[in-house]
Amino acid sequence: MTRGEMKYEGKAKRVYATENPHEYVVEYKDDATAFNAQKRGSWQGKGATNNAITAHLYPQLEAAGIPTHFIEKLSDREQRVKAVTIVPVEVIVRNTAAGSFSKRLGVEEGTKLSRPVVEYCYKSDELGDPLINTDTALALGWAEEKDLKRIRELALQIRDFLVPYFEKRGVNLIDFKLEFGKLPDGEIVLADEISPDTCRFWDMETNEKMDKDRFRRDLGGIEEAYAEMLRRVTAEG
Ligand SMILES: Nc1ncnc2c1ncn2[C@@H]1O[C@H](COP(=O)(O)OP(=O)(O)O)[C@@H](O)[C@H]1O
Ligand SMILES: [Mg+2]
Repeated sequence: MTRGEMKYEGKAKRVYATENPHEYVVEYKDDATAFNAQKRGSWQGKGATNNAITAHLYPQLEAAGIPTHFIEKLSDREQRVKAVTIVPVEVIVRNTAAGSFSKRLGVEEGTKLSRPVVEYCYKSDELGDPLINTDTALALGWAEEKDLKRIRELALQIRDFLVPYFEKRGVNLIDFKLEFGKLPDGEIVLADEISPDTCRFWDMETNEKMDKDRFRRDLGGIEEAYAEMLRRVTAEG
């Protein structure tokens, strides 16, 4: 698998073309950003850890009936994926109030929600990924109705897989962000990554944060937290 031209560079990953037009190589960087890239940092091992966590979870999601872009892990930092057209709508699934949800609604962080909440944001660095609803995505042509329906269904299926998966490993999955893409045949698949960059993970016993909030909020111990999450994700359930 040879890496061709770089197709996109994001805040945490680079996407490269390959000799196969239907496949890309994703490279995970050590860079971290928060608050719409106003805060920047990086630490050694971050890219490798997120690559390993995603590469461990996606095949299990596939086995649970959730189509994904993942093909195989190529190296410490790289994976081979199916090339998709990313739907420019980020999907957030919340189990417990935290972060922007708590701020916006005045709900104390850690308040358990009586049912999962699916939120949508427009994927736009310039605008800071603003909260939208599905009507907005339809009206502005970002997605079709059937695709949004499928995306919501998959997001909730992913939640139903991940919540007990992490619970067995002593981790409370507070919330997470997903990106979906479209294959040439129109199928919607889970793309991007699932990692401590994109999820809130709280230790079930201590409520200690084990995710990017350690970076956002300057809590320290970030490398250790990511390494511990990799250890737990790959532990037997
Ligand atoms: N299978 C895929 N095909 C095409 N693009 C993808 C795929 N998986 C992820 N991407 C895109 O790769 C880009 C790089 O990732 P990342 O660094 O996380 O970007 P961002 O700064 O937008 O979060 C993102 O825009 C993401 O949507
Ligand atoms: Mg990203």
